Amino acid sequence: MKYDISITKTTNPAARPTDESKLGFGKIFTDHMFLMDYAADRGWYNARIVPFGPIPTHPASTVFHYGAEIFEGMKAYRAADGTIRLFRPLENVRRLNQSAERLCLPTIDEEGCLDILNQLVELERDWVPHSEGTSLYLRPFLYGNDPHLGVHAVSNAVFAVICSPVGAYYATGLNPVSIAIESEDVRAVRGGTGYAKCGGNYAASLRAGKRAEEKGYNQVLWLDGVERKYIEEVGAMNVMFKIDGKIVTPALTGSVLPGITRKSAIELLRSWGYDVEERLFSVEELFDALENGRLEEAWGTGTAAVVSPIGHLFYNGKEYTVSDNKIGPLTQRLYDELTAIQWGRAEDPFGWSVKVCHG
Ligand code: PLP
Ligand code: COI
Repeated sequence: MKYDISITKTTNPAARPTDESKLGFGKIFTDHMFLMDYAADRGWYNARIVPFGPIPTHPASTVFHYGAEIFEGMKAYRAADGTIRLFRPLENVRRLNQSAERLCLPTIDEEGCLDILNQLVELERDWVPHSEGTSLYLRPFLYGNDPHLGVHAVSNAVFAVICSPVGAYYATGLNPVSIAIESEDVRAVRGGTGYAKCGGNYAASLRAGKRAEEKGYNQVLWLDGVERKYIEEVGAMNVMFKIDGKIVTPALTGSVLPGITRKSAIELLRSWGYDVEERLFSVEELFDALENGRLEEAWGTGTAAVVSPIGHLFYNGKEYTVSDNKIGPLTQRLYDELTAIQWGRAEDPFGWSVKVCHG
């Protein structure tokens, strides 16, 4: 079911960035955004693409007080055949709805949501950057918007999508990142909201992230919230380790975000004949493999981070080096093959890359 989308174009388009090497991540926004309102007695209504700008919001709105907010992250790519493409967009829509269900926010029709994304990307297609490694990042978000202070599942909500031309998420590009394993704060526990992509998970992560950055690390690696023993995920990516030729990645226990890049990497690795174990993986097991020279490679996966090699791990006052702080051969292959599918440079045997329009 498609929503009836009205389009109001800007009369004051912004200049597009000329130096794509300086895009960074999420600093510049396109000319238009999508907005749609929800009321329990009406369903979703007033679907509209409007000029990008502030969203007037009631000061008592649920989102300000109780953090009822979920989001997604996906990218539109300028492909080799001149088309603009999305990567597995239905997976993002389904995860958005899973997150919505956890936070008692209204869900969105899958076909309708894909149509919203397509119409917005098509309108903003000239904003999809051209240089290698760049894309148009889409940030769909959905929040509770009841104008009163009672703590209840909401009756009013807003769904919005904004777009940002981006380069690499990490300033280091494809060079290995340094990660600090966090042993004090926790991000999520089973039964909580860890598997949902909600703003509150990220708010809870900021203190540890700040401490890690002050020590020179890019991000935090979270341990499970109960025993502080099992590896979960990194701030903005899932993690994978190559040990004795096999791949190990933390299982989706409920406190880990079910990453779409994770899922795709697992499917690619299995199609290449690798054994991929999704299981509980303790920090002792990781350091045992590291100290005995059995840890061959470690990397993170995510929409923003793509495939990021991990070069250093910090834990309990000590720093360890992985793969001589160089990108390992399997990490490189994964990066190359995944990005070749995303940018339409290679066969797409899985049908992951979905055409939106001509560029
Ligand atoms: N884990 C966290 C906490 C994230 O923020 C992200 C990014 O979206 C991921 C994992 C990777 O998920 P995906 O591959 O769907 O982008
Ligand atoms: C993404 O990879 O899309 C993310 O959402 C990660 C981060 C920027 C929060």
